[in-house]
Amino acid sequence: MSARPAAGARPPVTLAALAAQKARHEPIVMVTAYDYPSAQIAEAAGVDIVLVGDSGAMTVLGYDSTVPITVDEMLVLTSAVRRGLSTPLLVADLPFGSYEVSDEQAVATAQRFVKETGCDAVKIERGGTTVDRARAIVAAGIPVMGHVGLTPQTAVAIGGYRSQGRTAEDALAVARSAFALQDAGCFAVVFEAIPGEVTDAVMPRLQIPVIGIGAGAATDGQVLVFHDLLGIYDGHPARFVKRYADLRSAMIEGVSAYAAEVRSGAYPQPQHGYGMAEHEAAHLRELLDEEP
Ligand code: KIV
Repeated sequence: MSARPAAGARPPVTLAALAAQKARHEPIVMVTAYDYPSAQIAEAAGVDIVLVGDSGAMTVLGYDSTVPITVDEMLVLTSAVRRGLSTPLLVADLPFGSYEVSDEQAVATAQRFVKETGCDAVKIERGGTTVDRARAIVAAGIPVMGHVGLTPQTAVAIGGYRSQGRTAEDALAVARSAFALQDAGCFAVVFEAIPGEVTDAVMPRLQIPVIGIGAGAATDGQVLVFHDLLGIYDGHPARFVKRYADLRSAMIEGVSAYAAEVRSGAYPQPQHGYGMAEHEAAHLRELLDEEP
């Protein structure tokens, strides 16, 4: 695999570019982002796809699952990411309850995301009726990424935050959902938390790029949550998370050092402030003396 040119030198990532990357067996790198600085970091790191995941419900908004996040909250996060991003493909998660009711609801929500945030594509979870929603959104001209296996929006219904497809029958259901999403026109699909053996068996039957998270090494690419891989989020990490940094400790250390210096008087020093000519300062004192 060739080294990536410096960020900024690359043309924007397109659906065709991702398909060509799969054809070349060149791994696709996807990461989540939720705001302007995280988008700028993803841009500088040269990733291929940025997902404004509804995982932002937990990582940046403090909810205890992805379910409560609203369309308006996701629109704010996605718009901020758009402002920090120019090269990677920008995908936004449609939140729980914003697309399941009807094809009309799904298309209207997807159109809001594209019009109001400038995202390139949307992601929706599950097979079943979601396949129809995917087909309708694609027919409306908006690219769709599917998501099968562990689908956090419906975690209660699938038995919790646990790996899926661990029996042949369950794995076949996951595979059928992926095939149906491909047939519906999805440009890519996420496999979350399924055994590597299932991925190995299913991959030869998928022509669209598959992005894995806890789905083994055979997928066309990988995705991790920004806060997990950088060690910012304090929650219990899933088995598939690899931490590449411990920024939470570094941030606590930085803020603690600042707090200690404010309390000791070590901060601020003269170089951190602004000065005034002595004669102006003297004049100010005179003026203040005249004040009632
Ligand atoms: O919301 C999210 O971050 C996701 C990824 C884990 C794929 O859906």
